[in-house]
Amino acid sequence: MAKAAAPNYACQQCGASHGRWVGRCDACGAWNSLVEEQTAAVAPPKGISKRGGRRIEFASLAEVTEDPRRRITGMAEFDRVCGGGLVPGSSLLIGGDPGIGKSTILLQTLAALANTEHLSAYISGEEGEAQIRMRANRLGLAAAPVRIASATNVRDILATLDISNPPDVVVIDSIQTMYVDTLDSAPGTVAQVRSSAQELIRLAKRRNISLLLVGHVTKEGMIAGPRVLEHMVDTVLYFEGERSHQFRILRTVKNRFGPTDEIGVFEMTSAGLQQVDNPSALFLADRSDNISGASVFAGLEGTRPVLVEIQALVAPSPLGTPRRAVVGWESSRLAMILAVLEARCGLSLAGNDVYLNVAGGLRITEPGADLAVAAALISAHTDQSLPPETVTFGEVGLAGEIRRVGQAELRLKEAAKLGFNQAILPPARSGGQLSISPEFERIEIEHLGRLLSMLDKSDPLNSRYMGAN
Ligand code: TYD
Ligand code: MG
Repeated sequence: MAKAAAPNYACQQCGASHGRWVGRCDACGAWNSLVEEQTAAVAPPKGISKRGGRRIEFASLAEVTEDPRRRITGMAEFDRVCGGGLVPGSSLLIGGDPGIGKSTILLQTLAALANTEHLSAYISGEEGEAQIRMRANRLGLAAAPVRIASATNVRDILATLDISNPPDVVVIDSIQTMYVDTLDSAPGTVAQVRSSAQELIRLAKRRNISLLLVGHVTKEGMIAGPRVLEHMVDTVLYFEGERSHQFRILRTVKNRFGPTDEIGVFEMTSAGLQQVDNPSALFLADRSDNISGASVFAGLEGTRPVLVEIQALVAPSPLGTPRRAVVGWESSRLAMILAVLEARCGLSLAGNDVYLNVAGGLRITEPGADLAVAAALISAHTDQSLPPETVTFGEVGLAGEIRRVGQAELRLKEAAKLGFNQAILPPARSGGQLSISPEFERIEIEHLGRLLSMLDKSDPLNSRYMGAN
């Protein structure tokens, strides 16, 4: 006989379970996030015996030749972030703020998929069929042979899809609206999200479906409900972007079948999301020449080089504690660069407000952006602009030394492709040869102090490198 289950409280932020209600979750520190939930009885009896168990057949690794043929959707940017198409039997979670464009991109992906031999289905728990049709109309996809349905009960979905020839790709929009009717808790709670996802993922494995789950993101930037969802699926993508900008970036956070940190760049237009083949050109589109406080960072997002403008503004502060405002970069990293400039190069910005902005709404996480940030800051301070055809990259160490970053050649090639002809970068490895055209001037610097001299009008290095401006 099963005992009546003791009350269980689950944190809606991190999924941790507690035996009694407390105001603050011990696991993640969130306040007021505990909700009483019924959990499925999954605990196996203690001391399980081997009776009734089936023997597992081992196979040799070398013998497993079955190559899971990936399903190419035809939406190139989407395929890229998935690591080259969808893997049969795998599950993918796409998270993002409400209204960022998750439903739109998935509908477009399914429509693109319809041009291949793959069958697809779009199950929405948020919109009725008429609403999905309206969206498809707006996207110019009204005639696409995508099967749509509105459903929220996982039992119904299983009954529909657990068949011998299910669709190859299934979208569930969103996992927070799905529910398992054997649980008492409301849809969207940890227990429901977890159970629904578990059932659907199991179905996908059993029937070789590529499952695409939509997950909402909370104010704190986590996929709403449990973090556990991220562990359950094979791939996690985040759809990011400032809603005020038209750029959207699809970023791989986790991928069991491909590289992470890959990005796909899209532009939200009145007719849906357009793929951006050359993000650098897009991020640099509104750049004006000869402005102080700006530098171009030759960055790397996953396997692809991306050039982006970094802007800084340094202004005398009326405040006792000057302002430090950063968009698109880590503020702790900015504090570090400011400290290095002060302690190692003698440039103090302590009495100034400092604003830093990565243009175009991109968020940079690479330490390789240090030098470009420092260049923008120094340029803003000295009011000396960098030559317009110059890119910068390199990591700044605490002693002010400039450290090498990966894939220098790839970055320089992208810069050359976009018409840049000069780079400020860390010294090349001794004996290392970069195959880049000789017209492309490389200014290798070993210490941040040298960059400061270059941008100082009274220094001889200035006229040598910074041209006439
Ligand atoms: P949506 O895909 O519904 O977002 P999510 O599913 O992530 O909540 O996107 C809705 C937003 O996108 C909405 O603010 C309007 C905008 N949008 C366009 O600008 N153009 C379009 O063609 C479509 C379909 C939506
Ligand atoms: Mg939606």
